[in-house]
Amino acid sequence: MDAKDAEDPDALAEFFERALDRIAGGYPRAFAEAADEHALRAENARFAGPSGELTRWMKRMPELPAERRRELGKRANELKQRLQQALSERIEGLQRAAREAELSGPHLDVSLPGRGQPIGRLHPLSQTRNELLRVFSAMGFDVADGPEVELHEYNFDRLGFPPDHPATDMQDTFFVDVAAGDANAGGAGVGAGDDGRASVLLRTHTSTVQIREMLRRKPPLAVVSAGATFRRDDDATHSPMFMQLEGFMVDEGVSFSQLKGVLTAFLRRIFGSDLPVRFRPSYFPFVEPGGEVDMGCTICRSYQGHDGSSCRVCKGSGWIEILGCGMVHPVVFEAVGYDPERYTGFAFGVGVDRITMLRHGISHVGLLYGNDPRFLEQF
Ligand code: DAH
Repeated sequence: MDAKDAEDPDALAEFFERALDRIAGGYPRAFAEAADEHALRAENARFAGPSGELTRWMKRMPELPAERRRELGKRANELKQRLQQALSERIEGLQRAAREAELSGPHLDVSLPGRGQPIGRLHPLSQTRNELLRVFSAMGFDVADGPEVELHEYNFDRLGFPPDHPATDMQDTFFVDVAAGDANAGGAGVGAGDDGRASVLLRTHTSTVQIREMLRRKPPLAVVSAGATFRRDDDATHSPMFMQLEGFMVDEGVSFSQLKGVLTAFLRRIFGSDLPVRFRPSYFPFVEPGGEVDMGCTICRSYQGHDGSSCRVCKGSGWIEILGCGMVHPVVFEAVGYDPERYTGFAFGVGVDRITMLRHGISHVGLLYGNDPRFLEQF
């Protein structure tokens, strides 16, 4: 017979009593094993919740035989109180344990300032490059790009370098070992050497972009391009990887005086309007006449009246060589299919590393490529 449908009041009293014993024997362990307050409350509900076992039995008290009702009712109420008491004690115990675990756990020092997320910034070379490109853009130059892995043909041949020019020597140039079929730079015909290998290299200068842009476009054009260049050089002022900026302008009637005007304006924009600038004749295969530009030494600033006699950067001369330039050689125009009788142009190449070093007074070019945060943080 099930307790639920016990009709006989005496039998019911019997079941009632056993239920009280069962509950009294069960809750201490159930409460003790509850690992947290949530589990504990669930256990409690099993006994004393609205549909808990004790609650259900207590609802049936009116059915108990009159002579036992008082006694059993008292026991049930006492049990209910004990449950209530045990529940609050256990809750307190759990809370105390949690608090103790917190106190004896790892120390959280809320007065310690938070660790901020470090904010990155552009590398000083990128900063300088962007600024130079901005200056030339403002003068109307377009910005172009070219590959760092380049054809011998674009790096040397079409720029008028004779085949045996010393710049093409293994000592100066990093040649890339690729099979002729692998090289497809710019879709142009790849010059293959006697051994059937394409002549591919890490560009030694950005003058390659002159060839690429002139092949791609027709005059008038004014273009600047900046990027990495590579030579087998390594000392305080030369890194095997360095950065150049190339510029050129081609149209009918472009003159040397325009070259002087553009370059003087450019250098003064970067280094100050009182910067002395001078042009000297020099030789590059792709220009005629060719020149080099010197500017006043911005390290000793002797042009501002400072004593520069012991300056190590300009060696007391007051001048620093800063760029190469010239009027585009007719052989270059022929190499790109422009009529040299109709067009003239000027071109120039600047070391972005050198400008960066001069702007910031950096003494060793290797610092620019060392990726040392202690150095880079300063810009
Ligand atoms: N390409 C030369 C170099 O790397 C620099 C240069 C000189 C570029 C004269 C030019 C130029 O465009 O006209 O040393």
